[in-house]
Amino acid sequence: MRLAEALGAPSTPSIFAPASTPAFAIRDLSFLVLAIVTGIFIVVAGVTVYAILRYRRRPGDDGRDPPQVYGSMQIELAWTVVPFLIVIVLFLTTTRYIFAIERQPETPDAVEVTVVGNQWWWEIRYPRLGIVTANELHVPVSDAARPTPTFITLQSADVIHSFWIPQLAGKTDLVPGKTNRMWIDPRTPGTYVGQCAEFCGLQHAGMLLTVTVHPKDEFDRWVAAQRAAAADDPAVRAGRDVFASVACISCHTVRGTPGNGVFGPDLTHLMSRATLGAGVAANTPENLRAWVDDPARLKPGARMPAMKLSREQLDGLVAYLVTLR
Ligand code: CUA
Repeated sequence: MRLAEALGAPSTPSIFAPASTPAFAIRDLSFLVLAIVTGIFIVVAGVTVYAILRYRRRPGDDGRDPPQVYGSMQIELAWTVVPFLIVIVLFLTTTRYIFAIERQPETPDAVEVTVVGNQWWWEIRYPRLGIVTANELHVPVSDAARPTPTFITLQSADVIHSFWIPQLAGKTDLVPGKTNRMWIDPRTPGTYVGQCAEFCGLQHAGMLLTVTVHPKDEFDRWVAAQRAAAADDPAVRAGRDVFASVACISCHTVRGTPGNGVFGPDLTHLMSRATLGAGVAANTPENLRAWVDDPARLKPGARMPAMKLSREQLDGLVAYLVTLR
């Protein structure tokens, strides 16, 4: 299965196709900036073309310099004051947009999410709902009748990352030791793709992120499924024992098992996710087997070590993991 299929053929992440209030604001501001710089371009390019044509070398030119002009007060003032005014306009408009976005008050219906950046994946927690997942953020659609924005608290476990879903909001950094906040209110259901937008090491490019926007009832069903206990199928007990006996449990959590590590993604509902390794591969049993066998093959530099499992252990472990729906 190709990755794009696994992600449900997501829309192109363009800032010119916004789907959430902060992204609409950024697009409007971009249009203003583009209009101003297009005006500057037309003036500069126009004058340049005019000068090239009007003062080009003609037959019979005597080769002397034209009369030189020094210290024209009018010209000096014009090219100082006009750019200054343009910068002031851009500065004030941008400031107004930033404050308008940051001042958004949190509503009682808002969904609270904490996203923690890790090398190289995203931990996603819903503190009020008791859900922990990774790399794929799920939120309800927010309509005008009953707005349900999602407020996102951003933290980092190691280095600086940057959370960016171009169609939903601007970039916000995740900084070690500092907590940042942002919000989105997606108006159209669908899957929106994003990416870590701050160089954070070898697999910076392998730190993808999706936001799936659900209609309200679908979101409630997703929440219920995520809150459910982990599957415990007696048929795959052997694989569960492998999981509990090797080092998996020191980094990963599967609720209801001895596994309560927090260095890697929570695996309680692993198979509800479309991708592995923060978007580097579709989450299929074959890819999962390859990943557990040697993560570096799919994602060089990944912090998860190859566990050197026997073929039998690997088969059992994957058989167990695929039951974690
Ligand atoms: Cu995380 Cu770049």
